[in-house]
Amino acid sequence: MSGHDHGHEHNDEEAPDMFEPSSWEERYAGEEKVWSGNPNAQLVAEVAGLTPGTALDVGCGEGGDVIWLARQGWRVTGADFSTNGLARAARHAEEAGVSDRTDWWQVDARTFAAGSRSYDLVTTHFLHPPDGGMVEVTRRLAEAVAPGGHLLVVGHAPSEVFTQLSSSHRRAMFVAEDLLPSLPAGFEAIVVEQRPRTTTRDGVTFDIHDSTLLARRT
Ligand SMILES: C[S@@+](CC[C@H](N)C(=O)[O-])C[C@H]1O[C@@H](n2cnc3c(N)ncnc32)[C@H](O)[C@@H]1O
Repeated sequence: MSGHDHGHEHNDEEAPDMFEPSSWEERYAGEEKVWSGNPNAQLVAEVAGLTPGTALDVGCGEGGDVIWLARQGWRVTGADFSTNGLARAARHAEEAGVSDRTDWWQVDARTFAAGSRSYDLVTTHFLHPPDGGMVEVTRRLAEAVAPGGHLLVVGHAPSEVFTQLSSSHRRAMFVAEDLLPSLPAGFEAIVVEQRPRTTTRDGVTFDIHDSTLLARRT
């Protein structure tokens, strides 16, 4: 994620609760921005050509993608399990002048249920639940896609670049193919690939891959 370029992954190598809300609440508690606020590269690549409608961004963090979508004309719900993250995102949306096209939903993606809600676009970037949990999260997110709508799931592909991270963090990464079994009937996969991207962390530039799944509900 462009937001990831601030590179906080290296700081939580040993954090046992990095997959739980508490560590994210702490991370978002201060005044300093955690992420860059720029939209993620694969979001821009895949969504710029779509007709705006309703969108859900799960794991929205500080709201960079929500704000970009709202500026493109989408009506966007930003969802995250961190109250501090959502409060920051709402503040940024206000500052960006898009609060009339955004709302916020506190939800844990691992137990998320769309219920009666459905969206023309459901997107998530760098959520990384533990132990292969992205497969189940993707299945839940797919349920929230309206007929004719799109699902975009992006995360880190495992890479030598991440060898210094904890094994649990590395196990949370995935390739797009891992997610295919979670697509319900009636979905057509459009993009299933690891996309190269150059990023900079702590002044060092290196190449990583964004695992990218784009699917359309027919
Ligand atoms: C690495 S950040 C990415 C933020 C944003 N999507 C971006 O790309 O800039 C991961 C975000 O997912 C949220 N998150 C992690 N696990 C979650 C879960 N199980 N349910 C909901 N949100 C979660 C965190 O609070 C955090 O805001």
